[in-house]
Amino acid sequence: MIQVDQLTKAYDDLSRGRFVAVDQVSFTVKRGEIFGLLGPNGAGKTTVLRILSTVLTPTSGTATVAGYDVSTNPAAVRRNIGFVSNNTAIYDRMTAWELVTYFGRLHGMARGTLQSRLESLFDQLRMNEFRNVPGGKLSTGMKQKVSIARAMVHDPPVLIFDEATLGLDVLVARNLLEVINELRISGKCLIFSTHIMSEVQRLCDRIAIMHQGRILDIGTLKDLKERHNEDDFEELFFGLLSQHEKRQDGKQTDANEEKSLRRSAGDPSA
Ligand SMILES: Nc1ncnc2c1ncn2[C@@H]1O[C@H](COP(=O)(O)OP(=O)(O)OP(=O)(O)O)[C@@H](O)[C@H]1O
Ligand SMILES: [Mg+2]
Repeated sequence: MIQVDQLTKAYDDLSRGRFVAVDQVSFTVKRGEIFGLLGPNGAGKTTVLRILSTVLTPTSGTATVAGYDVSTNPAAVRRNIGFVSNNTAIYDRMTAWELVTYFGRLHGMARGTLQSRLESLFDQLRMNEFRNVPGGKLSTGMKQKVSIARAMVHDPPVLIFDEATLGLDVLVARNLLEVINELRISGKCLIFSTHIMSEVQRLCDRIAIMHQGRILDIGTLKDLKERHNEDDFEELFFGLLSQHEKRQDGKQTDANEEKSLRRSAGDPSA
């Protein structure tokens, strides 16, 4: 359903110069699978997800969603995905029902189809008690459900959640994770990013651990634990991060040493 191959995104940043936010990332996600991107702040998770949702274009590499390339066929990709972040705008004056209807209309859905789709969506996400409440009066958790309904209204096979539980209390977050789990059962392909380890442990079929733009390892929780001979996932996670940082520091030192060697050997370009 999702195929990402050697995906790279570099930004020309004023202060940092050319900055590689995503560096040759590859992974696949199947139908009925929940794939988790786990990484600390700045790892590149949002950048990957934004490329998948066609908001950003990759510098190199490819990504396809439901068989469509994000670069050459973005409109078809958008028809096949729903994107949920933690800061989707909810209009204060529209009720939950009106807002989701509005987005369904934007997707070109006919009124009749839309009506029955909304009924089942509001049941599925348990949103009926606030269907006529205006956006301005919804709680954070309710708003998040509206964002999910909005992302799902056209019934896309792929759902992308970027830190969707951020700012939710434990109970609401738990409820949201249950919803995500139910979506897997219904055959959706789900990818979500988080920096919360317990979420990926509970929910994900496979996990990619990301840091400084790279995927450090990828696999089921069991795979990862076996491969690194570490049963404590938190230890495993931080271990991988610090190994990567040491390798990067090593490369930096090597490059500096090589430069100074070349300089002392009279190389003017060093
Ligand atoms: N428009 C931009 N210009 C320059 N650098 C950017 C831009 N957008 C993101 N970055 C940089 O790319 C890197 C990855 O950012 P990204 O938002 O993908 O990380 P993230 O894993 O989602 O982090 P978080 O957990 O904080 O959401 C960061 O160092 C960020 O500063
Ligand atoms: Mg992010």
